[in-house]
Amino acid sequence: MEKVVSLCKRRGFVFQGSEIYGGYAGFWDYGPLGVELKNNIKSEWWKEMVYKRDDIVGLDASIIMNPEVWEASGHLEAFTDPLIECKVCHKRVRADQEEKIKEHENEHSGKGSWTEARTFNLMTEVFLGVTEPKEKAYLRGEITQGVFVNFKNVIDSTRVKIPFGIAQIGKAFRNEITPGNFTFRSREFEQMELEYFVEPGEKESKKIFDFWKEERMKWYVSLGINKEKLRFKEHEPEKRAHYARFAEDIEYNAPFGWSEFEGIHHRGDYDLGKHKLTYKDEEGREYTPWVIETSGGVDRATLFFLLDAYKEDEKRVFLKLNPKIAPYKVAVFPLLANKEELVKKARMIFDRLRPTLRVAWDDRGNIGKRYFAQDEIGTPWCVTVDFQTLEDDTVTIRDRDTAKQERVKIDELEKYIKKGLE
Ligand code: GAP
Repeated sequence: MEKVVSLCKRRGFVFQGSEIYGGYAGFWDYGPLGVELKNNIKSEWWKEMVYKRDDIVGLDASIIMNPEVWEASGHLEAFTDPLIECKVCHKRVRADQEEKIKEHENEHSGKGSWTEARTFNLMTEVFLGVTEPKEKAYLRGEITQGVFVNFKNVIDSTRVKIPFGIAQIGKAFRNEITPGNFTFRSREFEQMELEYFVEPGEKESKKIFDFWKEERMKWYVSLGINKEKLRFKEHEPEKRAHYARFAEDIEYNAPFGWSEFEGIHHRGDYDLGKHKLTYKDEEGREYTPWVIETSGGVDRATLFFLLDAYKEDEKRVFLKLNPKIAPYKVAVFPLLANKEELVKKARMIFDRLRPTLRVAWDDRGNIGKRYFAQDEIGTPWCVTVDFQTLEDDTVTIRDRDTAKQERVKIDELEKYIKKGLE
């Protein structure tokens, strides 16, 4: 974990939020490489969940909504964590985090004295307007409610019919009591969610729940996460969110233990019921649809993809990221930076690839160092322009994982890389 955290800062994946002012607990900034990785994850998700299907449409709802939304959804009352306070130093800890509690008790020579657990609401308040008292509103605690309040708009403006889904990616905010484990538990984070609307019915909705749960697991594996490090975990009834009839998490075996990656929730008619929304089918039957939800964290995906891809051997550190999500797809080097013909040719290749691929340029140090630097950020291919290139218009292309090189014609380079991205 420390190695990945240090790599993230050193190479520009993730920085501490407001670092020059000492940071701010639970807030993180994504650097030049981090934003590429995160965007690639989101774009792969969108392709999988929206483009590949004809029963799912997208949405981008606002972060701040009429506060009545949160009243109706039950978040103002029930979106809570249990909180206990140390009677010695008044530090607050979530009552369900046994390890954190023990860790803290060790700071007081193993003796713990805690207040009774009380509930603590996770919604983040904001104040709007110009006259006092200002109006209290909330930063959304889950992106989901934006989908429900637009349920009717989507039906009226598109041709969707039940069963259908609405997909969304966006920021959510939670006043977490104990943010930590790097970006794992943040106060500002991004979610990628599908709300899939189905006819009410235990058997059919369970089938759809199982379908989506498997699909989501397959997606992580298809993008390279080690299968052995993933598992499903059913929520015990007392740990279920207030809206869930039942729920299962996809968990990842992180250095800090098995941890929630994505939640698959059967929300029943809870939300549409609360917002008094119904659906009328072609036969005129009116009912409140049930909802199956898949809710993943973009920041958790970014962190777990990085942790899972981190590899070391005797000679190097490399990120074995699936090329589809790697920040750069290819790096282009002139063998020698002081040979004008090589630099010119390499620059021509760099410019030719750039419109459709994210390409890195490096002409510092020797080739070995450049490979090392690209391996460390997960660039799948490195292209070197050498003296032979000037004679026959071929370049060497080196594979990140095997470190093997082959010669490819410049004209076939783009096709070669795009094939590797399929
Ligand atoms: N709409 C359902 C929902 O929000 P959740 O289980 O509370 O369900 C879904 O959150 C996902 O959002 C989690 O599986 C996780 O990936 C991500 N997530 C939740 N809280 C987070 C936090 N504090 N920091 C980073 N990611 C978080």
